[in-house]
Amino acid sequence: MKKYFVYFSFTGNGDFLASLLKEKGYEPVKLELVKPVKKIGFFTIIKYGGRAMSHKKEKLLPINLELKNDDEVIIGSPIWNDRLSTPITTFLSEHELNKETTSFILYPAGESTKKSLKQIEKMGFKKEVKVISYPLKKQEQAKQILGL
Ligand SMILES: Cc1cc2nc3c(=O)[nH]c(=O)nc-3n(C[C@H](O)[C@H](O)[C@H](O)COP(=O)(O)O)c2cc1C
Repeated sequence: MKKYFVYFSFTGNGDFLASLLKEKGYEPVKLELVKPVKKIGFFTIIKYGGRAMSHKKEKLLPINLELKNDDEVIIGSPIWNDRLSTPITTFLSEHELNKETTSFILYPAGESTKKSLKQIEKMGFKKEVKVISYPLKKQEQAKQILGL
């Protein structure tokens, strides 16, 4: 049985969580856009917030992940416009994950994750969803939530 943390990150919060989860034996699998974004500013936020709202798919670089039935997966997503980030929804639409064992970690800048929780529920995932607000700024809180 293997453990994976499949995640996306523009500005490092997801990477920080990946480094913490590595200590707990989760192999990080980072999703990357085919056309990477160089700078995250106002226009990027408007653009990708809009893409999240309209359920757009992204072109992702291929990843090396062959899941077995007993593998455990945590999905990590920033919150975009109160929703899951589009690289994550793209990944979820392209991979058949175990709905009973796959869990989620969401990392918004604020506290609200309402629409993303609805998305996760609608897709049929049953396991817990952890919300870690701004992990890079609140590192101790992040460690505590992850049980480190
Ligand atoms: C396109 C975009 C939209 C965002 N929308 C929200 C939002 O609706 N609510 C929120 O709390 N944070 C929002 N954020 C902030 C990110 O969710 C937050 O900073 C997250 O921790 C970033 O993770 P990362 O550093 O791994 O990319 C948004 C960021 C981006 C880039």
